[in-house]
Amino acid sequence: MTFSAPSSPPGAPAHSAEAIRLQLRSWPEVEAYLQTCKGVIVPLGSTEQHGPTGAIGTDALTAEAVALEVGRRSGVLVTPAQAFGMAEHHLGFAGTVSLQPSTLLAVLHDVVLSLAGHGFERIFVINGHGGNIATAKAAFAQAHATAAARGLPHADRLRCKLANWFMAAPVMREARSLYGDREGHHATPSEIALTLHLEPSLQAKQRPLPEAAPAGPIHGPDDFRRRHPDGRMGSDPYLAQADHGARFLDLAATALSSDLEAFLAEAA
Ligand code: NI
Repeated sequence: MTFSAPSSPPGAPAHSAEAIRLQLRSWPEVEAYLQTCKGVIVPLGSTEQHGPTGAIGTDALTAEAVALEVGRRSGVLVTPAQAFGMAEHHLGFAGTVSLQPSTLLAVLHDVVLSLAGHGFERIFVINGHGGNIATAKAAFAQAHATAAARGLPHADRLRCKLANWFMAAPVMREARSLYGDREGHHATPSEIALTLHLEPSLQAKQRPLPEAAPAGPIHGPDDFRRRHPDGRMGSDPYLAQADHGARFLDLAATALSSDLEAFLAEAA
């Protein structure tokens, strides 16, 4: 049994956007896909404030875009995005919609178990939000325990991997080189640049902003708003440009495609 998906030349989408979206497949097509590839990509975002000029959907839009680009390059199926994440500390700002850690854990656990039940063995979660990391890893641990307890036929072959696009080394290097310390830690110019590339209408929100409060510890929503009155943490999103965003998408998709390839090839 091979896990390898059809390969493609670097940077050249080899699979149509339609072909890699689970939402547009029929069940017999998914069954046939599973004969040749056991991998699947799950985009994971958040719906939360991104400073006074950034879109609420930043983390979900970016995670889904990177996931679809990795899917187009690799031919690996992409599920619908999980657009609600763990954003409790952003609830002091209008528009934020958060899942409690225990809720997100349950959602991801059930997503993994559903996929594993059909025979998917490599679950590659492309994440756009730092606040999801701890909970996603806990969900994977819980899913492994449940898969074994339920006696799923391939429980011992199940692997889950979290890929944070904004933490890919080439993405972080490019962000440092373009923005230096003004990249900051929330509502960063790199993520905002990607949204400007994806949704040109967001350009109209861009305007110069005063110096942001520096990054600090994260406690509850009231404390967060007190420390970071406009929602940003040390960032200057006005530096973001759509053409930077196109570059970040390419860098993230290249790095994560390579991680995915290695993940699919890993021995069970
Ligand atoms: Ni974000």
